Amino acid sequence: MLIALLSVFFLFTVKGGICLGENGNFEDFVNMVDTNISAAKQYVISQWNDEVLKVDKPNRVHFYGYYDFIIIGAGAAGAVIASRLSEINKWKILLLEAGGPTNDFIKIPGMALYSFHSDFTWGYNSTPQENACHAFLNNECFMIQGKGLGGTTILNAAIYSRGHSEDFDRWENVFGNPGWSYEKVLPYFKKSEHAVFTPRDEEYHGVNGPLTISHTNVTPGLNPVLIKAAEELGLDYLEDYNGRYHNGISITQFDLKGNERVTSASAFLDDFRNKKNLEVSPFSFATKILIDQRKRAYGVRFIKNGKIYVAKARKEIIVSAGTFNSPQLLMLSGIGPEDHLKSLQIKVIQNSPVGKNLEDHLMFIGVHFRTNTPFNNHTLREQLKLYINHQRPLTAGIGCELLAFRNKQNDETKRPYMEIMFNNPSFDGEVGNLSFLLKPEYIELFNQINPATDFWANVLLVHPKSRGSVTLRSKDPKHKPIINPQFLSNEEDVESLYDAVQFVLKLNNTPTFKENNFRLLVLDYPGCTHLEKLSKPWWLCAFKYLTTTEYHPGGTNRMCPDPKNCVVNSKFQVYGIENLRVTDISSIAELNSGHTHAVAVMMGEKSADMIKQKYKFEI
Ligand SMILES: Cc1cc2nc3c(=O)[nH]c(=O)nc-3n(C[C@H](O)[C@H](O)[C@H](O)COP(=O)(O)OP(=O)(O)OC[C@H]3O[C@@H](n4cnc5c(N)ncnc54)[C@H](O)[C@@H]3O)c2cc1C
Ligand SMILES: *[C@@H]1O[C@H](CO)[C@@H](O)[C@H](O)[C@H]1NC(C)=O
Ligand SMILES: *[C@@H]1O[C@H](CO)[C@@H](O)[C@H](O)[C@H]1NC(C)=O
Ligand SMILES: *[C@@H]1O[C@H](CO)[C@@H](O)[C@H](O)[C@H]1NC(C)=O
Repeated sequence: MLIALLSVFFLFTVKGGICLGENGNFEDFVNMVDTNISAAKQYVISQWNDEVLKVDKPNRVHFYGYYDFIIIGAGAAGAVIASRLSEINKWKILLLEAGGPTNDFIKIPGMALYSFHSDFTWGYNSTPQENACHAFLNNECFMIQGKGLGGTTILNAAIYSRGHSEDFDRWENVFGNPGWSYEKVLPYFKKSEHAVFTPRDEEYHGVNGPLTISHTNVTPGLNPVLIKAAEELGLDYLEDYNGRYHNGISITQFDLKGNERVTSASAFLDDFRNKKNLEVSPFSFATKILIDQRKRAYGVRFIKNGKIYVAKARKEIIVSAGTFNSPQLLMLSGIGPEDHLKSLQIKVIQNSPVGKNLEDHLMFIGVHFRTNTPFNNHTLREQLKLYINHQRPLTAGIGCELLAFRNKQNDETKRPYMEIMFNNPSFDGEVGNLSFLLKPEYIELFNQINPATDFWANVLLVHPKSRGSVTLRSKDPKHKPIINPQFLSNEEDVESLYDAVQFVLKLNNTPTFKENNFRLLVLDYPGCTHLEKLSKPWWLCAFKYLTTTEYHPGGTNRMCPDPKNCVVNSKFQVYGIENLRVTDISSIAELNSGHTHAVAVMMGEKSADMIKQKYKFEI
């Protein structure tokens, strides 16, 4: 015990220069957090990307240098590729990242919502949606993406979840991508991982990788009740949902080291300063991939510190800029749907379905339960005290301590169609507004939620049928892309979501919920008050208001053997262009039945190995 306490003390005295062993310095820590929170509340999200793209002399292009590989984007996938390629000493690598280095504030997982309002986000919204996001300003979904060293792992919910084995088997067997079955990708999941949580299914986890995966403590009194009630509905309790079995209810595994968020940069790039052959270049916004007459990619044009640069690649360029920015960059470079590019006066180099097939997990945030117990009545100060002792709530991502996956057959060999994320504490109006940019009447509604005693059961469809798109607004890179996920545009999704919600509502009638006096909190959703509460039409109305993204957009540079329908082949190589790959969540074959960060990391590992193999290095 004493050793544990001392090591906790030691951790905080050395890390980030904040000495929390003495009261005075705890005050500094609280002040740092307070300052960041107030800054977030006043932050104005920019309309365009002009800030990063300000150029002093628009006609002057500087030569940056020659590299073997240039990687664009230091996010979940890009950081892994840069790190792994730099293991080959004679290769010289440049990693371009539009955002900057992170700080101590982002290390606190529970503060992520404030980073949604900071320079660490791209500040994207969807187009106004017909069938979703009506509780949010302009009927637009807030489509957050991280910007900085670590990409979206800077501000995500830090849930480590790979999905069901059938997901990857389909990548190979249904979509025709050799090498992508679960059996073949499992070694890559394990390679990056440093699992420290127990109990776990050992043969499914790695312990020598840089990505630390941990449990944190769970809400006493609440989580055991939820697990017992879920079991009463026929869900199995699983100790390790990333192990032998996947469908059931489990305690969340987090990208967490001690109490700190693990980003792809903290895991894979922290030692980059010691690597002479890897240059990490922050605040470097790539605006064009340069492609020669023979359709070979040879360089990248980017803007850094007000100057335009060109860097050249002797071997390859790898785009890892994420689901919205990777298609944007490809289209700006002349790779994309012919008609669309022509309409914007962009010279077409390769006709390709870039930006089509936007796929996302959708999430309904309208199922809430009330209890009589104030599980979450700590002040911010108390929460920070708990945090430095490695205790929830701030260690538990954005509050999702339990996950459940389910298919209708209750068959483990089949992947799930739905997921439940139990979120605790619930969001009130202020926090709800930070997360979703609510309309005033919905802020008022969320203020009826009591974050101390209530919890959310967010209901997700992990394989919705609706597909959307990413297109360009113009050929100017400072214009944000047009993102239209078309949530619930497919009628089948509405029925599946209704079915999933009905299942979750059954919790209300379990003996365990009754014993503990947990009950459904029925709110009067503005816009639906003319309908009979809890009737099917009322729920369908609520879906329109409170369905949004689960922040897992992917598929806009899809992988498959058919260049008409896909952008890359099973080795991430862009059809029609040599020396160019896209590796990130945009290049999935299909979304997994889980969360997407682990998949992006696995893809980064596999991509780096494919590159090493091509150039004949032992792996
Ligand atoms: C709010 C939120 C919560 C989430 N929660 C979870 C979770 O709990 N678990 C989970 O598994 N997943 C979660 N995700 C999703 C997950 O984080 C992403 O799917 C994953 O990070 C995607 O990885 P990526 O490599 O495709 O892109 P990213 O990680 O987004 O990285 C792309 C990088 O490229 C940079 N970039 C973009 N354009 C350019 C350019 N032109 N020039 C230079 N650099 C550029 C970006 O700044 C960024 O750093 C969440 C996402 C969000 C938004
Ligand atoms: C947030 O805190 C960090 C220290 O971790 C500090 O460097 C940064 O300036 C703060 N950000 C704002 C916007 O106040
Ligand atoms: C906080 O909750 C605990 C029980 O969970 C209770 O004993 C305490 O009185 C509560 N404090 C406040 C301020 O509500
Ligand atoms: C809700 O968020 C928006 C966008 O950040 C902000 O402009 C508005 O003032 C917020 N509303 C309230 C009541 O806090």
